[in-house]
Amino acid sequence: MKKLVVLTGAGISAESGIKTFRDSGGLWEGHKVEEVATPEGWLKNPQKVLDFYNERRRQLFEVKPNKAHLELASFESEWEVHVITQNVDDLHERAGSQNILHLHGELLSARSMHDERFKYRWTGDIRLGDLAEDGAQLRPDIVWFGEAVPNMAIAELSCSSADAMLIVGTSLQVYPAAGLVYAMEDSCPIIYLDPNAENSLHGIKSSRHFIIQKSACDGIDEALRMIRSL
Ligand code: APR
Repeated sequence: MKKLVVLTGAGISAESGIKTFRDSGGLWEGHKVEEVATPEGWLKNPQKVLDFYNERRRQLFEVKPNKAHLELASFESEWEVHVITQNVDDLHERAGSQNILHLHGELLSARSMHDERFKYRWTGDIRLGDLAEDGAQLRPDIVWFGEAVPNMAIAELSCSSADAMLIVGTSLQVYPAAGLVYAMEDSCPIIYLDPNAENSLHGIKSSRHFIIQKSACDGIDEALRMIRSL
């Protein structure tokens, strides 16, 4: 089987009802990144950070995977599909994808604020006073700005042996994740499905890139058709 790496961002979950970050009306319009998504913000006001992620976690139970998540999962019968997602939701899992790597953590996981080896599946709110086995406060298992991205090396390795890359719904503004396009072989086709793909093209070096300027649900069939024909 040929190998497809799929790099997804907030846009693939937009049609499920989850806000993106940088679009108009997105999460970073209503919240200050430095207050809710940095280690400094956590130390200054952990309650505010917990409130932000508790709200995101609760919302997960009101949304479901959309056509784009589902079709990517079905495509596993034709290609070996490796999903590398910047998303912290579990919609790829619920759609049935088998190989999923979360670059920026997961809402349904909580970890010790001191030792990331102590992590737990967590479906409710995280409260001040909820402790890990090492006695430290639990925090969202999210990779914040300024923190290392532990799964990056695995992601790069996966990209380097792929036959094609499909990018869905990301502005490619955040590194190191956006740099994965550079981990692909030069000759490797890159298909970029995003209504604003033209604006984010700077990150793509392949001479064989294809743009589909549509929403994830509207464009997924076209993207997969293109990949089948490679
Ligand atoms: N279908 C596909 N793409 C869409 C849709 C849709 N229905 N709606 C919006 N988009 C696209 C936008 O055009 C944009 O390119 O989704 C992208 C969303 O970009 P961002 O909000 O920047 O989200 P993302 O790229 O996932 O952000 C990366 O930034 O703040 C951090 O950690 C957070 O993982 C996140 C990272």
